[in-house]
Parts: sequence; structure tokens; C-alpha cells
Amino acid sequence: MRVFEALEFAKKVLSQIENKEYAKWEALLILSHLLKVSPLNLYIYLDKEIPEENFLKILEERKKKKPLAYILKETHFWGRSFYIEEGVLIPRQDTEILVSVFLDLPVKEGIILELGVGAGVIAITLLLEKPNLKAFAVDISSKALEITRKNAKTYKVEDRLFFIKGDWFTPVLEKPLFKAVISNPPYISMKEWEALDEEVKLFEPREALISGEKGTEFQEKLLKFADEYLLKEGFLIFEMGYNQGEIIRELLNFYKWNFKIFRDFKGYERVVLAWKENM
Ligand SMILES: C[S@@+](CC[C@H](N)C(=O)[O-])C[C@H]1O[C@@H](n2cnc3c(N)ncnc32)[C@H](O)[C@@H]1O
Repeated sequence: MRVFEALEFAKKVLSQIENKEYAKWEALLILSHLLKVSPLNLYIYLDKEIPEENFLKILEERKKKKPLAYILKETHFWGRSFYIEEGVLIPRQDTEILVSVFLDLPVKEGIILELGVGAGVIAITLLLEKPNLKAFAVDISSKALEITRKNAKTYKVEDRLFFIKGDWFTPVLEKPLFKAVISNPPYISMKEWEALDEEVKLFEPREALISGEKGTEFQEKLLKFADEYLLKEGFLIFEMGYNQGEIIRELLNFYKWNFKIFRDFKGYERVVLAWKENM
């Protein structure tokens, strides 16, 4: 089977489990993965033969609703490919907003802290975009740190990324002050978890998504403690749920932060940039 035939076939199969637009995107991802080329360049290879057995196996697994990133062990973030495995949250496109907010700040060097690093896509992207930056990366999950380490090695930033296993701020008590504290924390409530797609509930790690009864436990910890870890001119940047604007504003005011909220590609409030007047 050649690429153009495989694309049509995959789109048809995938349309049975997801909407047509997404089926088209995933068909592209599968074939570019098999040919080891960028999804954007796939159209140059339309006549190339594909490894058919692998291709059909991937489609079979995907039909059972296993997320494609876990099947391919590959995910894309900020235009780069990253390794991913079951047990670690699949990075979401919305999180690229957090990266763009950081990159617009006047922070060129120094050390930043990422809490809840997951597969490492945020920290590694920032290190690649800002070659004079260093980062500490914390996660409670050994698996997440293992995957981050692998990705850091691939992108040759392991000498600028320091990994620490532990619970939120606890393992960085003795560390230097940071230019920025960054996090895409778990931020959904137990109730919201129940309403999520089966695909997420069956395959993605609960502890990467759920944050207490209200969903704001981790964000509140960030707002309560982050200034103790920040330099005077430091920034706190974190992600929030599309429906959390009101409660996050209350918390930001309660803990006396100045702030700006940025929207995602769909227009939902998604990323908070916060700083203290007295810093
Ligand atoms: C929403 S995921 C974000 C992962 C990654 N930064 C990203 O954007 O794709 C949250 C991460 O926080 C980690 N986490 C959950 N509870 C934690 C805790 N108490 N201390 C440190 N990390 C924690 C999870 O293991 C998970 O990797």
C-alpha cells in the first residue's frame, strides 16, 4: 500500500471513532511516524510504499480507543517530536500558550522551576528556545521523570535540566531562588474526572489530572507559596481550566498577585502570568 492509499484508508477507519477533522490529523501522524518524516512533509512522499503490517496493527489498537500518542510512543509539542509512554500524561496543544507567554518575558538566562514536569515538553522546549536558561524539574512520578530524562537526552539539554522526584515545592526547599515558577498542574475536580472521555479515563494517569475536590488545590499551593521561591523580578506562570476564571481570580487577589490571563486557541482563559508588586 502506498501513502496516498493508506491516508484514505486510515481516515475511513478512524472516522468510526472520532470526528473527520481529527481522523485526518491522526492519519497524517500515523503515516509520518511510519515513514519517520515530519507530518508537514508527508505530502512529498505520497507514492512511497508503507510498512503495511505495522500500519494495520496501529489502526487496530487505535480502534480500541487507546490514545494514538501511546500507540506510537510519540507526541508533538511546539513543532518538535517527543517520546511518550502510558503512565505519563499526553501533552496538550493548549499548553503551548504557557510556552509562548514565557517566551515573551524578558527572561533570557538564569534558573527556572517547573512543577509537575510530566514528559518534559515545557521545560525542554524552554531550554531549547533559550540556550542560556537552566531548569529544575519536579514530579512525583518516577515514570514521568524517566521520560523527561529520555527526552532531555534526545534534545541534548540534560546538562541544563535537573530532575527532582518529590511532592510539589517540598524537594526544592533548599534550592536557589528562581526567575520563574512554571506549572501545568493537575486541575480537574473529581466530578469533572467522572465526565471525561472514556479514552482519557481508561488510559491517562488520574494523578496527573485530578486536583482535590474543587480542582484548584495545586493552583492554590502555587499562589500561596511560589513567591518564596522567586527572585524579586520573578514570574509565576500556570495553566488553568477553561471554567476556572472566577475562582482563580479570587485566589490571585487573595494572595495579592498582579496578574494577566491569556486565552487558548479556542478562546478560553487558559494561562495565568502573575508577579508580586514588592518583588
Ligand atoms: C497536568 S500534568 C502536566 C505534565 C506536563 N507538564 C505537561 O504539561 O504535559 C501534571 C503533572 O504533575 C505531576 N504531579 C501530580 N501531583 C504531584 C505532586 N504532588 N508533586 C509533584 N508532581 C505532581 C503529575 O505526575 C503530572 O506529571
